[in-house]
Parts: sequence; C-alpha cells; structure tokens
Amino acid sequence: MPSQIPASVRQRPLEDAIERVLIDADALAGRIRELGAVISRTYQGQDLLLISVLKGSIVFMADLIRAISIPHEVDFMATSSYGTGTQSSGVVRILKDLNSSIEGRNVLIVEDIIDSGHTLNYLVRILQERGPASLRIVALLDKPERREVQTQVDWVGFSIPNDFVVGYGLDYNEIYRNLPYIGVLKADVYRGK
Ligand code: PRP
Repeated sequence: MPSQIPASVRQRPLEDAIERVLIDADALAGRIRELGAVISRTYQGQDLLLISVLKGSIVFMADLIRAISIPHEVDFMATSSYGTGTQSSGVVRILKDLNSSIEGRNVLIVEDIIDSGHTLNYLVRILQERGPASLRIVALLDKPERREVQTQVDWVGFSIPNDFVVGYGLDYNEIYRNLPYIGVLKADVYRGK
C-alpha cells in the first residue's frame, strides 16, 4: 500500500505541533524584500539563473523571485542526503537534475536552510564542474552551530539557533511545509510521544 499521512497527524491541527513562532510572516516578507533588492542590484544588466533546491526552498523561491526586479530564469534540482533523521552522513545524491546547461551563466543557488553544510558543499562542487560564469548562494536560514563542513554563502536571510524548525517550506516527515511562518516544532512530535 502506498504510504499515507498517518491518521494521528491528519487529525491534529498543524499549529498544535508548534512550540513557538521563531520568524513570523511579516519578518520573512521584509527580509525577502531586502534580499530581492540586493540580488537585483548585484546582477543588474546580467544574465541570471536561479536554481531552487527542492523541496524545502519552494516557498522561499516563490517569494524571492517576486522580490527580484530584473529578468531571470529558474530551474530546479532535488537532492537527498543519507543519514538518520537528525544526523547527516555527508553523502548526497541527485534525485532530479537541472533541465539545461549552466555553462557560462550566472547561477544563484536558492536554499531554505544550511545545516551540516554537506548538501551545499556537494552542489557547489558538482555545479562548478559545469563551468558557470559565476556561482553564488542565497539561503533563507543558517544554523551555524550545526556546521560540519565549511561552505561559502553569499546571502543569508536569518541566522538561527539549533532548534527543530518547520514551516515556510521546511518539513518534518514531509508535513508542516504550508505554515506561513518558521516555527519551532514541539519535541513530542519528533520524539513520537
Ligand atoms: C534540507 C534542506 C537542505 C539540506 C540542508 O533538505 O532543504 O537542502 O537539508 O542540510 P545540510 O546542510 O545538513 O546538508 P532535505 O534533505 O531535508 O530535503 P527537503 O528540502 O526535500 O525537505
């Protein structure tokens, strides 16, 4: 039988799983307007391709592109990292590759969160090999305490503490991506109590 959302999750209002709101919708919108403005200035008059790393970055990507005032294209990649729920093994795999070549193009990777840094490290390595004219990174959230490998990040929306966060694209077991804010998940949800 295909997997389904468990009944216990379906019957619980989404907000019940949230301990507290860490970044509300207004703060997200304000910071994304700033990021859009700086990205627009940086690439003014130049070619620009935004690459969204699925699935977590979908909501950030959708708002960011509307905060960017210059012409640009979008593409999507999906990766998965092996490891247990909270520990990354550092091994990253491509689930979906780009639709087109990035050779000679200005590429901006759009990530929802940098945690251990392994995903971004891997992406930068494989995309650099494809010969872009430039490669920059914008991440909505950064959890510096969790870093295992150093990564280059050009723009960060918010630096956050080591809390389990969901919402605004970020999930726990694929749920909570539709919350319009970044919230801290109650411990009983991820401990299964
Ligand atoms: C999350 C997030 C980043 C990555 C960051 O993706 O979207 O891509 O993990 O973690 P790292 O810095 O430790 O590598 P995830 O694999 O949870 O998939 P999702 O975006 O589909 O939820």
